Amino acid sequence: MKNYAELWIGYGKRTRTKGTDCLKKIRLSGVPGSDRVLRSAVKELQTGLQSMLEITPEITFGAAEEQPPAQSGAQILDRETVRVSLEGEGLTISSKSGAGIFYGVCDVLRTVACEGDIRETYAAGKTLRPSNPLRMLNHWDNMDGSIERGYSGKSFFYVDNEIVLDERTVDYARLIASVGINAVVINNVNVKDAASYMITDRYFEKLARLGEIFADYGIRLFLSLNYASTIEIGGLRSADPLDEEVIAWWKDKMAEVFTKIPTLRGFLVKADSEGRPGPFTYGRTQADGANMLADIAKEYGGIIIWRCFVYNCRQDWRDRKTDRARAGYDNFKPMDGDYHDNVILQIKNGPMDFQIREPVSPLLGGLTKTNQMLEVQIAQEYTGHQIDVCYLIPEFREILGFHTFCCQGPDTVADIISGETFGSRYSGIAAVTNTGNDFNWTGNYLAGANLFGFGRLAFDTSLSSEQIAEEFVRMTLSQEDEVVRTILEILLPSREIYERYTSPLGIGWMVQPATHYGCSVDGYEYDRWGTYHRADHLGIGVDRTDKGTGYALQYHEPNASVYNSPEKCPDELVLFFHHLPYTHVLHSGKTVIQHIYDTHFEGYEEAQQLAAKWESLKGRVDEEVFENVRERFERQLANAREWCDQVNSYFYRKSGIPDEKGRQIW
Ligand code: GCU
Repeated sequence: MKNYAELWIGYGKRTRTKGTDCLKKIRLSGVPGSDRVLRSAVKELQTGLQSMLEITPEITFGAAEEQPPAQSGAQILDRETVRVSLEGEGLTISSKSGAGIFYGVCDVLRTVACEGDIRETYAAGKTLRPSNPLRMLNHWDNMDGSIERGYSGKSFFYVDNEIVLDERTVDYARLIASVGINAVVINNVNVKDAASYMITDRYFEKLARLGEIFADYGIRLFLSLNYASTIEIGGLRSADPLDEEVIAWWKDKMAEVFTKIPTLRGFLVKADSEGRPGPFTYGRTQADGANMLADIAKEYGGIIIWRCFVYNCRQDWRDRKTDRARAGYDNFKPMDGDYHDNVILQIKNGPMDFQIREPVSPLLGGLTKTNQMLEVQIAQEYTGHQIDVCYLIPEFREILGFHTFCCQGPDTVADIISGETFGSRYSGIAAVTNTGNDFNWTGNYLAGANLFGFGRLAFDTSLSSEQIAEEFVRMTLSQEDEVVRTILEILLPSREIYERYTSPLGIGWMVQPATHYGCSVDGYEYDRWGTYHRADHLGIGVDRTDKGTGYALQYHEPNASVYNSPEKCPDELVLFFHHLPYTHVLHSGKTVIQHIYDTHFEGYEEAQQLAAKWESLKGRVDEEVFENVRERFERQLANAREWCDQVNSYFYRKSGIPDEKGRQIW
């Protein structure tokens, strides 16, 4: 018995799946029989069908020739597309790559697990074409075993500065590949201490083996890189990207690393960000830094993913000119087009930092000549630490569906990161992941829906939040319709409920500094991080209009005009863009202050209702899972109560305006 949950690859017995006779004969075609991912696909198919249905399929193969590795996003998409169809008595799964076959197999296993009708599902043939070339997870795991912003135990990759490879590593690869993930960065973006030595002899052997495990499941291995490696491990004086000595050092280093870890596909770099070193130190641009590494990595087919999280983190709260929200665009837009074609800029979904509600970053669609990738966070840093239930897929869908108006044609974030809008060489989506070595991988069992959901959505951005949640529940928790319905009623509204009892109308922050869990309205108000709500006795919000910091004008029209106007700006973002009196009337017809009171009382009540729904499942889901989530709900309720009380009291005292419904405010 494993000491951890198998989540959606547990494959328990299924009795209600229909049309299963066609699963006895399965033909896998289009890929050479020697393909390593094809072998994994066969194993997965056998395991899944045997344990869910007690079917031992007769598997045949169609011959094909080996193809060289993909050299662009378009090639990745072409290779990883798969078609599943009924042919004769059996099922045929065909793709140009083993990875494609693996995704086809997992689609079939998912249909079985969700007790669908196999014949009906594949009767007309079903083509699965990934929406995004790179579908990536970013681990913020440190080599001492801790995880930055980790809420589900310790790292399962590292113990005491050593890399651990065991059965769990393989199951991890199976889990994430089965939902379509094809790339993983295995170490924290803040590369320090032992992690700086990942690109040395000390770790090559284990990293090579880890890369092989991933490669068996079509997962590309990436490492976070210390920009100042030349100084920290190379003994040079400089990390200037134009310095000959620095360049020569990197040439040797890359040659060594890519040879010793043959499956390595590239690096993720956090430079000039929150105290990390970078090219700014030497008066060079972000493009200088990224291009230097990319030019050297190119020889090995390597990619440099460069983060855009660059801002002044030493601000004075009195300074109203500097606006952290502007920083990404200001730092990266001027060099649009200068980045070489194996550089991808990785852009956080919002201009600040993964708050429960932010506008979409204006860099997405602002950059038109640069490969770009969206970064979201399923680690619930600001969204409840995997204590509070917060199903994030509805938020991600909003982001993906956002019209940037960057062109006449396909202009949503989903279009841009798929590579379609600008025909980018590389593009995709990454999530800061929420896993750890807890028995259920994600702390709160229900947070598993975000891991599952991120993969599913990254693979197919047209899927609905409901479908994804329902698949997760049916595959991992229960097949009983009523139980499924109840859990969906918990997951689906959970993000908006969390938003209601925390910070209002897009203003964000108001969290406990450092930990980012729990309420502290002024916690970041006088700090250096550029995270202010600017509340006084008259009003609240940050003026980011043309009269304020001008941030709203970083968007294309008509978004710029909409955000620039307090009348047109959507309610949920109005305090992000405007400083408004408490008596300002929102589109909802409520004043700002009444909105604050109402949402906080409602949010807390709704959290109680969610907890009660979970309570009703006692005896109907696995006992360990039930207790795990029940205990989290207890803490969520305490948290929601605290937020509600603190926020309401704070704004009552600031504004002097009472709640029109006369509820208890301390
Ligand atoms: C946030 C987070 C940090 C992290 C940083 C990043 O600021 O709190 O822990 O390092 O984002 O994305 O680099």
